[in-house]
Amino acid sequence: MRVLVAGGAGYIGAHMVRCLAENGHAVTVFDNLSSGHEEAVRWGRLVVGDVLDRSALDAVLQSDHYDAVMHFCARSLVSESMLQPLAYYRNNVGGTLTLLEAMQAAGVGQMVFSSSAAIFGQPLSECIDEDHPLAPINPYGASKWMCEQMIEDAVRAFGLRAVALRYFNAAGADSQGRLGESHRPETHLIPNMLRAAREQGEPLQIFGDDYPTDDGTCIRDYVHVDDLAEAHLAALQLMQRKPPGMHRFNLGNGTGFSVREVIAAGERVSGKKVRYTVAARRDGDPAILVAASNHARETLGWKPFYVDIESIIETAWRWHCAPRY
Ligand code: UFG
Repeated sequence: MRVLVAGGAGYIGAHMVRCLAENGHAVTVFDNLSSGHEEAVRWGRLVVGDVLDRSALDAVLQSDHYDAVMHFCARSLVSESMLQPLAYYRNNVGGTLTLLEAMQAAGVGQMVFSSSAAIFGQPLSECIDEDHPLAPINPYGASKWMCEQMIEDAVRAFGLRAVALRYFNAAGADSQGRLGESHRPETHLIPNMLRAAREQGEPLQIFGDDYPTDDGTCIRDYVHVDDLAEAHLAALQLMQRKPPGMHRFNLGNGTGFSVREVIAAGERVSGKKVRYTVAARRDGDPAILVAASNHARETLGWKPFYVDIESIIETAWRWHCAPRY
């Protein structure tokens, strides 16, 4: 298939591009390089452009006969979204709207959308399945929810096929060390922990140890970025065999790890002590987010390869010891 990957120079997008190319698909990356890396685009053509720029989108979409668009472009930091909500709505909601309009104009009928566990807010059950109520507690999550609603309306109105994949905590790196997680500034737990293990910069800060969890720190469901990419491939296949419609899947390993447990695993993997301090809670962080991914397993036939936290951190550690960008 011919696939346009919007946001294909970013962390998850770049792993997706590699996975598509390795599975025989022709890939074009559309990315404004605001947080992505040109060096990460090694398996497809790169078109530099902004998802808010309708004419740039029209130009790329009409330059080829694309079968599908994968949409990874987003601002995605929970705490930043609390401080800059309008920037999040403009970029995430406005960008998705512009992309949907351009896809309709170009006659591209399939979309895989990067959604997030942040759409659920505080969980009401131990594991979050697709029927869990949607009540985001930060503008980032609210923006992703709005996007899902727009996509669903477009599906109903003009026969789009769409799959929304709600990632829990994407983590890890390409097993061969060619791609990895590199944000500036870095706000995510695993890269910050590995930096502290390498004794680079300040100690890790644990944001809050007074949450209602066993050790007081937040619990998250870490899922390997290559497993996420495999789920997107399965989503592409699902759209070929289903009539027009929208499908939603929660993607996680189904096991939660607290910040302290992640630190302990990071120390085992790296063989180093992770220096840390305990700081105040970070605005917008729910205490626990763990996925129930039965629907993805049953309907997409998705089965994560990386099921234990050490194996996920090990791939990240390899990257952080020898980053390429
Ligand atoms: N944390 C720390 N110290 C750090 C960084 C993070 O203690 O230096 C804590 C956070 O407070 C949180 C946990 O580690 O409790 C995980 O934080 P991350 O920043 O790694 O990830 P988030 O859970 O905030 O967010 C990620 C993505 C979001 C997505 C969410 C879904 O960045 O886009 O997962 O679960 F919505």
